[in-house]
Amino acid sequence: MDFTLHVWRQAGPEEPGRMEILPAEGISPDMSFLEMLDLVNERLLAEGKEPIAFDHDCREGICGMCSLVINGVAHGPDRGTTACQLHMRRFQDGDSIYIEPWRARAFPVVKDLVVDRSAFDRIIEAGGFVSVRTGGAPDANTLPVPREEAETAMDAAACIGCGACVASCPNGSAMLFVAAKVAHLAHLPQGQPERERRVLAMVQQMDAEGFGNCTNHEECEAVCPKEIPTRFIHEMNRDYLRAGMRARV
Ligand code: FES
Repeated sequence: MDFTLHVWRQAGPEEPGRMEILPAEGISPDMSFLEMLDLVNERLLAEGKEPIAFDHDCREGICGMCSLVINGVAHGPDRGTTACQLHMRRFQDGDSIYIEPWRARAFPVVKDLVVDRSAFDRIIEAGGFVSVRTGGAPDANTLPVPREEAETAMDAAACIGCGACVASCPNGSAMLFVAAKVAHLAHLPQGQPERERRVLAMVQQMDAEGFGNCTNHEECEAVCPKEIPTRFIHEMNRDYLRAGMRARV
């Protein structure tokens, strides 16, 4: 298969960016999207040119590092799929493919398709942890957790922190990410002692990082590779309101 790539190239955070047209020829339909980029990079290097910088790690949909807007959609055309799990057979031979980085004020471009997502780390540092002694795994397993609560916590814990929710939101909101991290702990007994402090601190940090607010577009849910539902945002809003009122009292 042959493709024409339109790739965002930007030498550094302060440099101006532009779309560059690059050929991607002789691509196997069974290649993943990142393998296709690897091949393009090998050819660029062989020609003495600068390879395309892009983030990746596990290439199995686990780490959340791959962060590409493909043809205008975060992670590309397949629902519930990360860019690293997308295959070239999903495209037509001869297609033009537009590849851009996450675009959000809180995710500045580092180089080409790589953005700085350390804002997410700082939100987690603000409250995405438990400080009670939980012991080892066998101790945790002796704590009875109602099945429904355990399932909900697991649904929220599926978030891989890739940032597609932010990239797809017209407000650049991180509400789905923060809501998933808040809900993950709020549905477990170990997360109860700091439940109110946690939601206040994480939302405060989210605002400080420059993420926008949620106005119910629900683009985030549509592109989330783990299909985290927006009902976690509603849940977080209730927790935030309750915690704020109690803090004032
Ligand atoms: S590289 Fe890890 S989720 Fe895509």
